[in-house]
Amino acid sequence: MKVLGIETSCDETGIAVYDSERGLLSDALYSQVAVHAEYGGVVPELASRDHIRKLLPMVKQMLANLSLGGGDIDGVAYTSGPGLIGALMVGAAFGRSLAYAWKVPAVGVHHMEGHLLAPMLEENPPAFPFVALLVSGGHTQLVRVDGIGHYAILGESLDDAAGEAFDKAAKMLDLDYPGGPEIARLAVQGDPDRFRFPRPMTDRPGLDFSFSGLKTFTLNTIADHRGDEVLPDDQTMADIACAFQEAVVDTLAIKCRRALAATGMKTLVIAGGVSANQRLRERLEAALAKEGGRVFYARHKFCTDNGAMIAYAGCQRLLAGQREDLAIRAIPRWPMDTLAPIDAPV
Ligand code: KG4
Ligand code: ZN
Repeated sequence: MKVLGIETSCDETGIAVYDSERGLLSDALYSQVAVHAEYGGVVPELASRDHIRKLLPMVKQMLANLSLGGGDIDGVAYTSGPGLIGALMVGAAFGRSLAYAWKVPAVGVHHMEGHLLAPMLEENPPAFPFVALLVSGGHTQLVRVDGIGHYAILGESLDDAAGEAFDKAAKMLDLDYPGGPEIARLAVQGDPDRFRFPRPMTDRPGLDFSFSGLKTFTLNTIADHRGDEVLPDDQTMADIACAFQEAVVDTLAIKCRRALAATGMKTLVIAGGVSANQRLRERLEAALAKEGGRVFYARHKFCTDNGAMIAYAGCQRLLAGQREDLAIRAIPRWPMDTLAPIDAPV
């Protein structure tokens, strides 16, 4: 079964064709970063308009490159939510209509399920059951995963998501959006011993997160070290970026180990934009190796938003017989643990 996947939940237009027999045939991504750069964050209306502008030419180009016609596609999957309502509407309207025109089934995919399953596109995919850490710009969640659609939320952020915290700290350091990769780059030159930032909510039991206090701590550290200047000197900026990243990574690692201990599992999957963070990967690999566990993640470009993860997740659901009716559905808020299980838990 060949499935066209469409991702438009935020500021990237991602498309892909996934074949259940042959794997991923092609994927393409157009990032709107330049469109939003001057505003320091995503402007929803501009995002919707840009998705409209890009989607059709991208799909035409991909099908032409693959020498496929509409008749060769067996199903269309698009992100139905969660995300920006206008941006979701564009992808859902486009994807649903295309499926109608091609007389093939359509399926609306949950964006975070897409992220969660992205490591399945790699050569040695994880086997169910496992614990997943979902860390993106909008979500920070620990999930027990017993199969596709068998999700139990173990813990989540009570305020900012991990990626959002990276983005906000980056803004304070006058770095570009998205801030995660920028902080990571600057942190390499930082001295990890100069500042110690708090590890929020690690001193009490539980698997929830809170990152908003780290924001205040970052702001105060900047204010304490900038003297009469707008920002501290370059080395201090790198030291702050390093201390911030260490605090987030350490906090995530502590809670991941706790979740594995609580569930008795050895396999951890990390997914979403922040799972691209090199320091997080290293830290988790080291921690789990000691306990005989293993961490799985997707290649860099499939950690952040992309069409391949939607094509893959959609394909699994279409193969299981799931179908959309003719309604064009965009669901800006959509708890992942309400998704339909598609097969028996393992
Ligand atoms: O999954 P994603 O592309 O979009 C959402 O679903 O939100 O995640 C984007 C988030 C941004 O907050 C970005 O700063 C963060 O992922 N991110 C990173 C890195 N790459 C992207 N955070 C830390 N380190 C990175 N290398
Ligand atoms: Zn995402």
